[in-house]
Amino acid sequence: VDEDGTRVFDLRMQTGETEFERGRRTPTYGFNGSYLGPTLRAERGERVRVRIRNELGEASSVHWHGMHLPARMDGGPHQSIAPGAAWSPHWTVDQPAATLWYHPHPHGATERHVRKGLAGLFLLDDEKSDELALPKKYGVDDVPVIVQDVRFDGAELDNGRNIFQSVGFLGDRTMVNGTLGPYQEVGDELIRLRLLNASTTRTYAFGFPDGRPFSLIGTDGGLLERPAAMERVQLSPGERAEIVVRMEAGERVVLRSFPQDNYGDAWQRRFSGGEDSFDVLELRAADRLRPSPGLPAALAGPGLSELPDDADAVRGRYFDLKRTGINGRTMDMGRIDETVTRGTTEVWTVRNADGMPHNFHVHDVRFRVVEVNGSAPPPPLRGPKDTVFLPNGTTMKLALRFDGPADRDTPYMYHCHLLYHEDEGMMGQFVVV
Ligand code: C2O
Ligand code: CU
Ligand code: CU
Repeated sequence: VDEDGTRVFDLRMQTGETEFERGRRTPTYGFNGSYLGPTLRAERGERVRVRIRNELGEASSVHWHGMHLPARMDGGPHQSIAPGAAWSPHWTVDQPAATLWYHPHPHGATERHVRKGLAGLFLLDDEKSDELALPKKYGVDDVPVIVQDVRFDGAELDNGRNIFQSVGFLGDRTMVNGTLGPYQEVGDELIRLRLLNASTTRTYAFGFPDGRPFSLIGTDGGLLERPAAMERVQLSPGERAEIVVRMEAGERVVLRSFPQDNYGDAWQRRFSGGEDSFDVLELRAADRLRPSPGLPAALAGPGLSELPDDADAVRGRYFDLKRTGINGRTMDMGRIDETVTRGTTEVWTVRNADGMPHNFHVHDVRFRVVEVNGSAPPPPLRGPKDTVFLPNGTTMKLALRFDGPADRDTPYMYHCHLLYHEDEGMMGQFVVV
């Protein structure tokens, strides 16, 4: 924290080598190191400044995924950082406690930069979350779980796509926090996992092989109104979920990703990863566990009550997702696709009838999912969201409110977060005026 109370972070975007497996050094990118980046953390109301230096030898950017901030600070393709240059965005945190993340967003090259290792968590706290009896000892009973799939081609990280794959790169192994075959030793009865799908393409359906239920407590943009008991939570690239699982003394439990039947037709399931299953993270419980207080019955005041209400919507927009573009257009940095009025609420209808899975992410806002194929959303879609998975044949209605500062010259993005699709141009731009 500097003299005027601003919380300052330093990030250096670096090239390096990572020894994922003994004796094999893989060229990678990272923030302040060779792979991934530090977890940043700030409190609601705090002013933050991030001093970034790009030492990659190529242009990139750093985007604050899920953060409500002015478009000039967003770190999208318009805030490119030249090789050797620095960028110091700053803003005031003005949103509820949540698990956000940061990653590059260079035009046409996001997949490569993220896959090479540029990603990190950005956790937000608020007064309410500070008081709640939730597991919150970072790295002890509150564990970050950044999930990525990888494949090695000799020592290199492979990014090949087989010719049947239209979704993008799919790895054959998963890592957590940059570690292959990961495990976590735990000493508390209740363990909170902050799950981030940081893969460029792959969707996961997390759960436990013994079918034990866990409590879903938060989604992309913050806590749910109350914990929801679940056996599976599906996350597409960019989405987050916070879950709490109960451990028994001495046991070992594996967090696994299971096959997904909502992944399109048999062809898509087979070649786009829908049938795959991975052991993601082993939890090893100590022989004696510290007792944890039970989860509070009510979690979110702000998290949910601050979500926009579709009844307030002043207009609707329609987005048709196709690999060849959104609403028939591919991304053009010089074209503003949508102009929204500051302080208003809108309903966006997003449809995928493209025969393959897509998802949809909107910068700056936390939105409410109003409807999924005409029905009320299931629990994982009832919390604050910024990214949603749309398997083929899905139509969603989202309520969004645009209350940031007006800036007619600097757009925010909306796009498919399957990064190969994003890079190909499944992205559009909106300004708030
Ligand atoms: Cu996580 Cu536009 O990005
Ligand atoms: Cu984003
Ligand atoms: Cu897509």
